[in-house]
Amino acid sequence: MAMARTMTLLLVAAALVVTSCGAWKVNIRMPTVAAMDDAMAPLIHALRPLLGSGRHAGVPCDSWRLGVEAYNVRDWKAVPASCEDYVGHYMLGSHYRRDSKVVIDQAIAYVDSLKLAGNGKEVWVFDVDETTVSNLPYYAKHGFGATPFNVTSFNAYAQEGSAPALPETRRLYNKLLSVGIKPVILTGRAEYLRASTATNLRRQGYSGWMTLLLKAPGFKGSSLAFKSSERQKLQDAGYIIVGNIGDQWSDILGAPEGARTFKLPDPMYYIG
Ligand SMILES: *[C@@H]1O[C@H](CO)[C@@H](O)[C@H](O)[C@H]1NC(C)=O
Ligand SMILES: [Mg+2]
Repeated sequence: MAMARTMTLLLVAAALVVTSCGAWKVNIRMPTVAAMDDAMAPLIHALRPLLGSGRHAGVPCDSWRLGVEAYNVRDWKAVPASCEDYVGHYMLGSHYRRDSKVVIDQAIAYVDSLKLAGNGKEVWVFDVDETTVSNLPYYAKHGFGATPFNVTSFNAYAQEGSAPALPETRRLYNKLLSVGIKPVILTGRAEYLRASTATNLRRQGYSGWMTLLLKAPGFKGSSLAFKSSERQKLQDAGYIIVGNIGDQWSDILGAPEGARTFKLPDPMYYIG
């Protein structure tokens, strides 16, 4: 069976690790699943110290990040204090860029696979923060999300319009323009940030969007509710949402989501 072969390969690989550590030996011809479990469990413990990541409540930060990205960890208020360094390294090093590239490569392959009507009604929804532009200059000064979100200081930063582009997303954006899919910018930023947001986007090489939608002053609901209702309006006006991309699950959940959704990485904050 393929499964059994995979497990054997895993055990061979594991045995190599263990042998090189000189800790203990594994019998690679495991006769039963139970015996395999016995062999694997201590291996996982043996590998843990090699991860080199901080921990939160006994959970390594890379496992915490996976929990966040997979939407298993929800409603969190701040990055665990012990994971500040881990998240900082992730964001500033090549890992964040690489993870973003995987997402955008998939999105571009999806665009290439589409049979477009080309009727001017096909749109793609983009979020702003941590999607079209990066707020790393702000978050680097605020513990990479380890300190609770401060709307006053963040909005002051947003008003500068100085956030750099996320280059992978800009690549997708330009691809969409080239095939006639119209970008729609849909952000949970408040309406009064319209001018600074538009200026920021233009400075960073984004142009030609169909519309820029921001949260009206009176809106009381969640981000998920706001964004879903704006997408519904687009659909009611006859637009086809062929794609939707954001860094928060609340960008891409809630009907109508769009024909396909893409989740960019963001271990710094959670918006529901
Ligand atoms: C939030 O930021 C503002 C402006 O920088 C500051 O005056 C205020 O004390 C901050 N609030 C908290 C709770 O840290
Ligand atoms: Mg965002």
